[in-house]
Amino acid sequence: MPISSLPATNISYIGTPPLKERFPALVKNPDVIYFDNGATTQVPNAVLSAVHEYAGSGAANPGRGSYDWADDANEYVQECRSIIANFIGLSGENGVVFTSGTTMSLNMVAQSWGRHVLMPGDEILLCLSDHHSMTLPWEELAKEKQLVIRPYHLHANGSINLSDLQGRVTDKTKLCCVTHINNTAGWINNLTAIRDILPEHVFLNVDAAQGISHVPIQMDRQGIDFLSFSGHKMFAFGGIGALCISKRVQDNMRPLFYGGGMAEYAKSDPIYKKLEAGTLNVAGIVSLSAACKFIEDTRAQNPLSSLTRHLYTLFLSNPRIDLLYEQKPYALDHLSGILSFTLEGFDSGEVADILNEYGIFVRAGRHCAGVKDSVRISLQIYNTEDEINTLYNLLETIYESHA
Ligand SMILES: Cc1ncc(COP(=O)(O)O)c(C=O)c1O
Repeated sequence: MPISSLPATNISYIGTPPLKERFPALVKNPDVIYFDNGATTQVPNAVLSAVHEYAGSGAANPGRGSYDWADDANEYVQECRSIIANFIGLSGENGVVFTSGTTMSLNMVAQSWGRHVLMPGDEILLCLSDHHSMTLPWEELAKEKQLVIRPYHLHANGSINLSDLQGRVTDKTKLCCVTHINNTAGWINNLTAIRDILPEHVFLNVDAAQGISHVPIQMDRQGIDFLSFSGHKMFAFGGIGALCISKRVQDNMRPLFYGGGMAEYAKSDPIYKKLEAGTLNVAGIVSLSAACKFIEDTRAQNPLSSLTRHLYTLFLSNPRIDLLYEQKPYALDHLSGILSFTLEGFDSGEVADILNEYGIFVRAGRHCAGVKDSVRISLQIYNTEDEINTLYNLLETIYESHA
């Protein structure tokens, strides 16, 4: 269908939405409606100015010099480690390891821990419709080491089926891999309830890529052993992330890479020293800790639960929109701002392309999870009800112009 045949759609805001004005990219582009936050979020002023301050006051290589700026860089990194440890409720900042993002962190769990600790016949609980960054590292290691993957299922609403999960635990289960918020379903899984059904000896590996900006996590209290997340999905920069590790597994991990800073690597070193080879991405690290502060500072104003309710209420009412997961109006409080759908008679790529012509950015495809081809809307704190209405009205228009 030619785009020019669609009627014009007005994108209008009533006043300036208060959180949006903290994001320069959105202020500069008032005609853009950004709904691909599950892929990457925009960066707020608070994060930009923290990095500006660090980089503008003398960049040096942390841990590689004894002059003042090198010491300052080291202090910056250690302070960020401790801010992040507090943010995720982990006692002791030594368990915060900087990585390039969730994918690297999840691979590190498999290669630095699983490869050395797991034995042939050991069992791993895994959901095969989770993101490939979670599933593939274990599928590959399992082939090599004769580990057994025991797949568990989601309910039709996209939440983890706890009784199915529990039923798959055996004496040989060593690890349970869980995604806090699945990137296509958006259901907020209850990590405490999951920990409660696992025997103590089973280690809990959580992919928090989608959850970290939405739901507070308390690693120690919730009994989480590994927690992975990416800066670019939580208002920080790309190319930085963390793997946070509980005390009980820290001694059983081995370096994955070797390089600068590791010649004197000793068994008693803190875990981050064993896992962070080479020069650190200090600007990225500063952005990550500033993003943690930003998330905490804006929690009280966070409009996401009412935006999510509004989004689902509209979409559930339209018979031409088919949701990938079945949701009931009474359960909408369990959802973060992710909604995946197809529009009757349209290919998902075609819908995304038409929306793009109108300045509405969404994701289309199988979302690195092998699920059905669909369009994904993912909200963040700067989105508004007005934007959701504009999207919804445009989808109606697209459908009617085609029919
Ligand atoms: C749930 C989930 N896990 C892992 C990833 C991979 O994150 P990254 O590409 O930042 O490593 C993503 C990215 O979309 C995700 O949504």
